Amino acid sequence: MKTTEWTAVATAKELGRRRKLRVEVDGLAIALFQSEGRVYAFADVCVHQDRSLFKGTLLHGKVICPGHQWQFDLETGYEADQDRCQPTYPVRVDDDGTVYVKTEEASA
Ligand code: FES
Repeated sequence: MKTTEWTAVATAKELGRRRKLRVEVDGLAIALFQSEGRVYAFADVCVHQDRSLFKGTLLHGKVICPGHQWQFDLETGYEADQDRCQPTYPVRVDDDGTVYVKTEEASA
């Protein structure tokens, strides 16, 4: 597997009160979500029918896709009713609030 460095994509301040942000790394769209003090990174394009997860809703530890309301677990990207997974990426937040993601290690 190709080794990649962490890529700085945002600051905690940019995530702000909206608790979500859409960023791009090498042309790959990533949706960032903040919940319970943690930051999560998902592939922005829904595995179902390509809607933008960034436009979804955070609720009870899940992100709900605006397309057809599939509910992806924030920790794993798993959608229990459909038995499908949205790719997720490792996230690191430094003490200064900089948010980093590693796109080579997407889980699918
Ligand atoms: S496009 Fe996401 S649930 Fe259908």
